[in-house]
Amino acid sequence: MVTYPKLVVYYFSGTGNSENAAKWMADIAKEKGTKVSLINIAKTDRLAISSPESDALVVFVSPIHGFNYPPVMLNFIRRFPKGKNNVLLMNTRAGMLIGKWITPGLTGIAFYFSALILKMKGYSIKSMFPVDLPSNWISVHPGLNERTVKYLHERNQEKVHRFARKVLEGGSDFRGMYEIIQDTLVAPISLGYYFIGRFLFAKTYYASADCDNCDLCIKACPVKAIKKVDNRPFWTFNCESCMRCMSNCPKKAIETGHGYILVIALLSSLVFTGLFYRYFTLLFFDVEHTFLGFILEPVLFLGILAIWYRILHYAMRIKFIERMIVYTSLTKYKFWGRRYKALKNN
Ligand SMILES: Cc1cc2nc3c(=O)[nH]c(=O)nc-3n(C[C@H](O)[C@H](O)[C@H](O)COP(=O)(O)O)c2cc1C
Ligand code: SF4
Ligand code: SF4
Repeated sequence: MVTYPKLVVYYFSGTGNSENAAKWMADIAKEKGTKVSLINIAKTDRLAISSPESDALVVFVSPIHGFNYPPVMLNFIRRFPKGKNNVLLMNTRAGMLIGKWITPGLTGIAFYFSALILKMKGYSIKSMFPVDLPSNWISVHPGLNERTVKYLHERNQEKVHRFARKVLEGGSDFRGMYEIIQDTLVAPISLGYYFIGRFLFAKTYYASADCDNCDLCIKACPVKAIKKVDNRPFWTFNCESCMRCMSNCPKKAIETGHGYILVIALLSSLVFTGLFYRYFTLLFFDVEHTFLGFILEPVLFLGILAIWYRILHYAMRIKFIERMIVYTSLTKYKFWGRRYKALKNN
């Protein structure tokens, strides 16, 4: 029995996990004779989104970034037209493997925030379903090995197929809500990531001297966040850290600059303590212990980061500086830097 004649899946994907999850849903729907539209939101006009047909089951699939959906998906949902369809919220997040036990990622506020927006637009939420695929975030942890990637891919494909059969027959699945305690605890971090963290990470990427200017990263970026400065790729604050560029660079030239970020963080903390607080405290008030200080410090930090990032970008023409930056990037090393790309489906 199939309850829905049509399925519309909107997905965003950096390295292929969410695209796979979207396709796994679509496969089962097609098997059941449901008409399927798979829509990659990075390739649609996100300013003029057309309404889904009224009898369609609507699905949103996206990775989790900093305990939330990435801004590109949040903005898509925010601009989504009003409607009364049934909606499934899915995510793919950082699964890991300990023995045969899949450790789950953390969804944070992604489901609740999106459900709230969609509910206010008239939609009815029928599922919140997390999928623990391999983590692609090699800026913060070593890349996963092939065995882990393959195991997580296979297990999650089965899991999504079971979920698809259930929901296409009119069922619902709110297993994402079983984690409400952890999700609530990390909510403040998700705000920190949204307002500060993602901008910091945007400036951790750079192209080493191995770059041959093929421009593939610039063309493939789903949010057009890389531009050419001084005839080399330059990461702007628009970057969503989806990891696509780093995973696809044919020269493996894109790295995360752990060393220089650490140095910039130390330098800016010196600036704060040495100049900024003293100046403000003398002239106005004790800014260090006020809400204003809480806001000003990260804003200033990002300002300093932007300036240093640009200086380093030009300075990397000097071989010695380029090598220093490369050798203090963990992603450069074999034990850490395995690039992640989701497995292709059979
Ligand atoms: C910048 C960034 C932040 C991430 N934050 C989280 C997180 O908060 N929780 C989580 O479980 N996984 C997190 N991950 C892991 C991804 O959500 C996960 O690997 C996802 O399946 C990638 O999907 P994609 O291949 O479709 O881009 C993060 C990954 C990146 C790159
Ligand atoms: S994909 Fe790699 S080699 Fe090509 S321009 Fe980007 S950084 Fe350079
Ligand atoms: S610059 Fe790279 S990591 Fe950032 S959004 Fe574009 S493809 Fe993703």
